[in-house]
Amino acid sequence: MLEIIDLSVSIDNKILLENINIKIPQGENHILFGPNGSGKTSLLMSIIGFPQYKVISGKIIFNGNDITNLSIDERARLGIGIVYQNPPGIKGLMLNNFVNKLEEKYGTKLYSYVDKLKMNELIDRELNINFSGGEKKKSEILQILTQNPDFIMLDEPEAGVDVENINLIGNILKEFLDRKKIKNRKKSSFIITHTGYILDYLSADKGYILINGKIVCEGNPYRIFELIKEKGFKECQLCKL
Ligand SMILES: Nc1ncnc2c1ncn2[C@@H]1O[C@H](COP(=O)(O)OP(=O)(O)O)[C@@H](O)[C@H]1O
Ligand SMILES: [Mg+2]
Repeated sequence: MLEIIDLSVSIDNKILLENINIKIPQGENHILFGPNGSGKTSLLMSIIGFPQYKVISGKIIFNGNDITNLSIDERARLGIGIVYQNPPGIKGLMLNNFVNKLEEKYGTKLYSYVDKLKMNELIDRELNINFSGGEKKKSEILQILTQNPDFIMLDEPEAGVDVENINLIGNILKEFLDRKKIKNRKKSSFIITHTGYILDYLSADKGYILINGKIVCEGNPYRIFELIKEKGFKECQLCKL
């Protein structure tokens, strides 16, 4: 579904990512680990296509199409969705109106999710303005559920979210990823996690560790997570798997 080939990316002439190779087949969930500042968010931003992240070599293939030079909009239309680490607030846009517009545009019913995500009190507020970490994540997840992409990327979905809300988000994500696509094939995902909580809710197929913009280790995501907890990222750099 998604294939990243020898991708190197820079911003303001500073190299952020070097020779990244990742292949996520249809129906698989891959997990990205790495210390703060290692380039995880930059990798997601490069995949969705923010132009300030300049691809200096390599390419990104999605469902057989080379998307390396497409705009964010074009990539989204091909079926890539993203839950940002820090989504922007939009003053004057009430969540209620936003949900109505999304329902109209995509022909989906959102209010069942508003209930499930316990967002009823949020609905009369401006989008992401003074939302807590957990509230922002929930409003992001709501948008993803409507757009119904085939492939989603999640940037630390459990960061700043309390245990009860992690449970809500985790279960909804699982339900979403289990939705069948055409020809009975499932959706795929690429997920950044620090706490690993999200691993309790979905079956992860492969993990990677990113350090200083390079993938230093890849393999069984559960073993990788255990290794990080036991030995820390420094030891992982020597790849013990
Ligand atoms: N827009 C930007 N301008 C300059 N430097 C950036 C920008 N975005 C990210 N960086 C730098 O790139 C490195 C990787 O950042 P990031 O991808 O956010 O890391 P992570 O998500 O792994 O914590 C950091 O050193 C960060 O300061
Ligand atoms: Mg980040």
